[in-house]
Amino acid sequence: MIKNICCIGAGYVGGPTMTVMAYKCPEIKITVVDMNAKRIADWNSDDFSKIPVFEPGLADLVKEVRGKNLFFSTEVDKAIDEADMIFMSVNTPTKEYGKGAGMAADLKYIELCARQIARVSKNNKIVVEKSTLPVRTAEAIRSILDNTGNHVKFQILSNPEFLAEGTAINDLLNADRVLIGGLQTEEGKAAIEELTAIYAHWIPRERIIQTNVWSSELSKLTANAFLAQRISSINSLSALCEKTEADVTEVAKAIGADSRIGNKFLTASVGFGGSCFQKDLLNLVYICHSLGLEEVAEYWNQVIKMNNYQKHRFADNIITTLYNTVSAKKIAFLGWAFKKNTNDTRETPAMYVADYLLEDLANIEVYDPKVTENQMYSDINHLNSRDNEVNHKQLKMVSDPYQACKDAHAVVILTEWDEFKELDWKKIHDNMMKPAFVFDGRNILKRQDMEALGFNYHGIGR
Ligand code: UDX
Ligand code: ADP
Repeated sequence: MIKNICCIGAGYVGGPTMTVMAYKCPEIKITVVDMNAKRIADWNSDDFSKIPVFEPGLADLVKEVRGKNLFFSTEVDKAIDEADMIFMSVNTPTKEYGKGAGMAADLKYIELCARQIARVSKNNKIVVEKSTLPVRTAEAIRSILDNTGNHVKFQILSNPEFLAEGTAINDLLNADRVLIGGLQTEEGKAAIEELTAIYAHWIPRERIIQTNVWSSELSKLTANAFLAQRISSINSLSALCEKTEADVTEVAKAIGADSRIGNKFLTASVGFGGSCFQKDLLNLVYICHSLGLEEVAEYWNQVIKMNNYQKHRFADNIITTLYNTVSAKKIAFLGWAFKKNTNDTRETPAMYVADYLLEDLANIEVYDPKVTENQMYSDINHLNSRDNEVNHKQLKMVSDPYQACKDAHAVVILTEWDEFKELDWKKIHDNMMKPAFVFDGRNILKRQDMEALGFNYHGIGR
């Protein structure tokens, strides 16, 4: 019976996942550790609006369990030592250097984490990989643990996370499935059962799928690849719809009504963002290349290409429509996060659209209800297109959507925050340059309503 859990990494995955686990398993002590002291301090903040991850419902749950059976700490070694089960929830970004740069997952943090576990552990432990990892990472972790450890026994499980940001708490509480991969040996199966027993506190057993390690790792990569593929498919059609009289929302509705296809993940947009889709697709493509499966690699690579095309096409359309230049024009951005109900901006389409417009010398003012100004500058600077100083001059964040839109030539909607639908669009129109353009990258507004107010409205694929 597991009594003590340690989770390494207090990010978007580790934080919410352990909060829900602590809430559902009051008899298990869970310590979430991170080497980032500021992050831990924020998780321990008395002001629950300051916890580092914004997710609807998360703050309330943290309030309920923190200090009871959920703890946030920087004492990584101590937490590892005390735990029977360790979750690795560290980040696995796309590698930015050397072999596999721009494609492969960077396993630096995972490797450091494994070495730390090996060094500290004095008794047998179950190690669970929670981050999205390329296939066969568990094997690498096993090799490090077995060869550098203090001769204690480790069981390594793959337990991929399927939560989507913005709905993480609901996804965790009511998971479609929980996947647990482990070695098919007696000890491996026993470890799988231990983790199954934890999830069985709140997930019906029939939704807990047990597999071998590699199936589990591959399922995570390919589930994301399938989801991303649907978005690229509908986005490719949005380009076709814009050239014809078809409306992509009508087409999506008609396609999705076929129960074999289903209606989810068919919303055309400026493109998908987030920490997972592109990273996992790149990873899948890299793995296929490495195994000599060129056709398979190129098949999945096309999903990424279509997404890049969509972001570029959207930005390009803004410039073309604004008489071929946005130089010195004020452009308002509503939204910077990669989707609504999160403060996460990893791979957000907003930064790529901004980058393109900044190249054409636009002045952009951004409003986002949850993203900080520092985060926005860190995102745009990371693209390395121009000096920090120039970015600061041309790109600003404001705390009021009406201020962002005042005197703007165009309003560009990048994130589908609900509050944008409720804005006083007449007031916005009154205070804009004319003609007043709206580029709705999320199709959240109705063309008829906007045209009735005098806007020149451009949606995606309609
Ligand atoms: C995704 C997976 O959904 C989740 O299961 C996995 O664990 C992590 O990756 P996430 O990236 O958090 O989750 O959000 P998701 O809701 O999948 O959205 C990803 C991107 O696709 C967002 O930019 C979103 O706006 C976009 N999207 C989604 C569309 O453009 N159209 C859609 O129909 C759905
Ligand atoms: P994810 O979306 O996968 O949760 P995040 O970047 O939000 O990714 O969170 C990962 C966290 O893991 C970061 O806060 C980082 O500081 C932490 N981390 C990475 N490596 C280690 C390590 N060896 N020890 C402790 N914390 C780590």
